[in-house]
Amino acid sequence: MLSDKIKSLLQEVATLEAHDAQELENLRIKYLSKKGIVNELMGEFRSVAPEQKREIGMLLNELKTALQERINTLRATLATAEDDLSDLDLTRTPYPIRLGTRHPLTIVKNEIIDIFSRLGFAMADGPEVEDDWHVFGSMNFADDHPARDMQDTFFVEQHPDIVLRTHTSSVQSRVMEKTQPPIRVICPGRVYRNEAISARAHCFFHQVEGLYVDKDVSFTDLKQVLLTFAREMFGADTKIRLRPSYFPFTEPSAEMDISCNICGGKGCGFCKHTGWVEILGCGMVDPNVLEANGIDSSIYKGYAFGMGVERITNLKYQVKDLRMFSENDVRFLDEFMAAN
Ligand code: DAH
Repeated sequence: MLSDKIKSLLQEVATLEAHDAQELENLRIKYLSKKGIVNELMGEFRSVAPEQKREIGMLLNELKTALQERINTLRATLATAEDDLSDLDLTRTPYPIRLGTRHPLTIVKNEIIDIFSRLGFAMADGPEVEDDWHVFGSMNFADDHPARDMQDTFFVEQHPDIVLRTHTSSVQSRVMEKTQPPIRVICPGRVYRNEAISARAHCFFHQVEGLYVDKDVSFTDLKQVLLTFAREMFGADTKIRLRPSYFPFTEPSAEMDISCNICGGKGCGFCKHTGWVEILGCGMVDPNVLEANGIDSSIYKGYAFGMGVERITNLKYQVKDLRMFSENDVRFLDEFMAAN
């Protein structure tokens, strides 16, 4: 029966939904267009018996109004939803955000820089492709000095005077030649040596150089600064010991060990059961070095030190194989997420 059909359609009206303008338009076409359901019913209405015309006519009108109202309501809801878009921050990064990690060497280098900048050291740097003078000559390596053999050097082809720097001590010279004391700098950077790559050696690694030049600088100052550094880096219980050594650019020279922070000094594989591990070389700047770089050694004195970043990172994080640092294995790098 027509009236039943209309009544069930009337019940349907409240359940109609549209999620976008297209769906809304489809609803309008389905129910209210020329070929829509309402017009179809109008056609059927013509053949309704006269005594039923009034009742069914009213029902039909009710259906038409209800449909129009429903569609208007849906249209209004869609419009507000669209308006709300303008309040959204569309520049926001979508979740989940996967953060990268800093490289362990960068984490440790930054920590070293932090400690020394709190002690008043400024940053300095110099080129990795360097001339012989800044790497060796100005650092008091005589032309035939056997110490040159201590470092296996990469030379730039056809330029016997140009090398990949073998140590960051070259930056000492770069700084001194253009600055008069007081000088207090640290120089982090990459260095190169012609070594076969293995778990324990690599053809490049990283150092941080330190240089302090002023009047009345003493070995005691050096020792105190290095003790402070060791305690900040490895913990307040850390002990240091200085052993006499030799470098062309310092006199006297020393190598510094810290109490092994892996076994706490008791002796383990890492410290070869001595309880101590070497972390840096240091000494009083040789007067020849000051003079070679334009600083009057009768007025000024200085101390210097140089440490390997990989070595310190190994001590902190026990990385067994040096090659891990340059292989970019994400599984390795991810392990440093928490240290960032
Ligand atoms: N340049 C040395 C090396 O590469 C490290 C070093 C030792 C730096 C003593 C210094 C120093 O400044 O005083 O092994």
